[in-house]
Amino acid sequence: MDTSTTYLGLRLAHPFVAGASPLSSHLDSVKRLEDAGAAAIVMHSLFEEQITMAESGRIRHRDPLDSEFAAALAPFPPAEEYSHSPEQYLQHLRSVKEAVHVPVIASLNGTTRESWLKYAQLMEEAGADALEVNYYEVTTDFEVPGVAVETRIRDIVTELKRRLKIPVAVKLSPFFTAFGNVARQLDAAGADGLVIFNRFYQPDVDVRRISAEPSLELSRGSELLLRLRWLAILHGRVRPSLAATGGIETPNDGLKAILAGAHAVQMVSALLRHGPGFIQTMRDSLGRWMEWQKIPDMDSMRGAVSLLKSPDAAAFERANYIRALHRWNT
Ligand SMILES: Cc1cc2nc3c(=O)[nH]c(=O)nc-3n(C[C@H](O)[C@H](O)[C@H](O)COP(=O)(O)O)c2cc1C
Repeated sequence: MDTSTTYLGLRLAHPFVAGASPLSSHLDSVKRLEDAGAAAIVMHSLFEEQITMAESGRIRHRDPLDSEFAAALAPFPPAEEYSHSPEQYLQHLRSVKEAVHVPVIASLNGTTRESWLKYAQLMEEAGADALEVNYYEVTTDFEVPGVAVETRIRDIVTELKRRLKIPVAVKLSPFFTAFGNVARQLDAAGADGLVIFNRFYQPDVDVRRISAEPSLELSRGSELLLRLRWLAILHGRVRPSLAATGGIETPNDGLKAILAGAHAVQMVSALLRHGPGFIQTMRDSLGRWMEWQKIPDMDSMRGAVSLLKSPDAAAFERANYIRALHRWNT
């Protein structure tokens, strides 16, 4: 059985990729990911705020030492809390590239089309095989309409495609009214891949202290369902390749993501929970399942349960919703 796949134009031995996480911050854990069989490695992110602080001492054009902005900017971590400064990140990327043979995807994380994006070129020069840009934003300004957010993301992709020769993937949130149209806009802007979806780290409320508490819990398979829906809707209808991220907990979750339409399956929580060796478990299970189902290759498998052949995807979604509610009553 042939488990090889193409993601962002990169030929991978199989779809299971180590997603962006602290596992890429140290050379020895990067090597462990490759030894464990990761098909590619996405680096942890370099953040827009980190870059602008290092370059100009400002975050979003505001000086944290200015009393007018100090309170608003206080929650941002100080430079020394990041695992690498921007310069160190590039040096680390070079070392990672020297240390492993699998494709290395660098990661930029931010929301504006501004000068920090020059780091994309520096990452390309440092040897990155591709760039993943993570657009993580919660829009709390009530004056900003959805279309303005969509335009900003599209402009970032346009700018990156203008600057870079390497492929560009965009890691996105699911919170758009019409995600299919967003995907199409990014396709038109030249994105080579869509990574769906960002997990939002939603603060919890501490009722004892009466305060908001940041919380980061590792994901569970239940989070995958939202990804499966959109992989299935997008499959075959946009040009960029598709990566699943969020909720790949078991080998069956990996199969589901590919059957829905994923070219690549990114894993973080499962690797933090079980260690990098879990990639081999995923790969072995995929091979066994393909043999059992007599499916020869990824092209035959990918999108087998997508909505590509559905005459009306919206009607399908609506009908399924109504059926699900009815099933509860019977
Ligand atoms: C500890 C930790 C650190 C992460 N760091 C990054 C990061 O630097 N950049 C990024 O784009 N995503 C980052 N992520 C998000 C993951 O790449 C991934 O999208 C998310 O965890 C969902 O995948 P999972 O269900 O396999 O964990 C991080 C996740 C965790 C748990």
